[in-house]
Amino acid sequence: MNSLIRAEVSAAALRDNLQRVRELAPSSRVMAVVKANAYGHGLVTTALCLADADAFAVARLQEALVLRGAGVRKPIVLLEGVFDPEQLAEAARHDLEVVVHGDEQLALLATAPAGSTFVVWLKIDTGMNRLGFRVEQVDSALVRLASLGPRIRELRLLSHFASADEPASCENDLQLARFNALSAGRSWTRSLCNSAGLFAMPEAQAEWVRPGLALYGVSPFPELLGSQLGLRPAMRLVSTVIAVRDVLAGEAVGYGGAWRAAADTRVAIVAAGYGDGLPRSLENGTPVLVNGARASLVGRVSMDMIAVNVTAIQGVQVGDPAILWGPELPVEQIAAHAGTIPYELLCSVSQRVPLAVR
Ligand SMILES: Cc1ncc(COP(=O)(O)O)c(C=O)c1O
Repeated sequence: MNSLIRAEVSAAALRDNLQRVRELAPSSRVMAVVKANAYGHGLVTTALCLADADAFAVARLQEALVLRGAGVRKPIVLLEGVFDPEQLAEAARHDLEVVVHGDEQLALLATAPAGSTFVVWLKIDTGMNRLGFRVEQVDSALVRLASLGPRIRELRLLSHFASADEPASCENDLQLARFNALSAGRSWTRSLCNSAGLFAMPEAQAEWVRPGLALYGVSPFPELLGSQLGLRPAMRLVSTVIAVRDVLAGEAVGYGGAWRAAADTRVAIVAAGYGDGLPRSLENGTPVLVNGARASLVGRVSMDMIAVNVTAIQGVQVGDPAILWGPELPVEQIAAHAGTIPYELLCSVSQRVPLAVR
């Protein structure tokens, strides 16, 4: 039985985007960021499509365990590290690389049973002020790590840009300068670039890059589309017209009568709502492609449905396809109509939307 709504994921697009990342950073290894269900694209299937990546990165232990359970043998980095002895033991058991970003995690590592060894990514706070050791704390963190002896199989350095999506921001150069100053003269393996950094700060690519959004074919820059960066959008969110009705001039549509017809209007009801992950904040006029033609959202998004003005499209009927976003309708533009960023739309695709990988 076909689902009314589905998210089609293109394996070829994912692979092409990985290739694009490699072209951009030919001297770096690629840690594919697949947290949050691979930004809505499906954790395991995405990792399998991106099997050529050099490593995977996730935010939560559970995500890493799902990947290991699915047979993913590549290195997996826990971007937020571990938080209790049980998680530490799981990380050791499954050979997960851990970020260490605070004193509590240093203390936790010291409790690791003899014989367990870790690749540790020491996280440096170069200006984001979220996670990581401040530059002036690094020396003492290194002393504590050195005291852990063979538990530390390899020590690497990582930081995160706060504003790489604003290439003109001088914060980026400041962060890079702090990071470089720390690692100068030492032979550490380092990682700094997310997707935006990859494009905007080529001088920061270092030994590892950590793209997420770019792998899904989407632009991290508000003023650009993925296609303009040589990327291919990997997801198409497509649903179905489940009713067509004629609304008379002056009549309102949907909850709260938030949209009222200025003239007689043909409205298609599409099976997609906030229960599927469409933000309720989508504004009137947001584009939707019905039978490939551009229509516009009218009225409020409800849990399971939206209404779309199809007056200008001939012959729309129940069963016709309606694309909410995809290669033909950039998710970056839809996000702008909801006052949000494409990351949020992709991650919000809900569990009841089946993923179809092609
Ligand atoms: C530490 C870290 N590195 C890399 C990424 C990937 O970022 P992006 O999706 O912008 O490429 C993220 C995502 O939030 C992150 O938290």
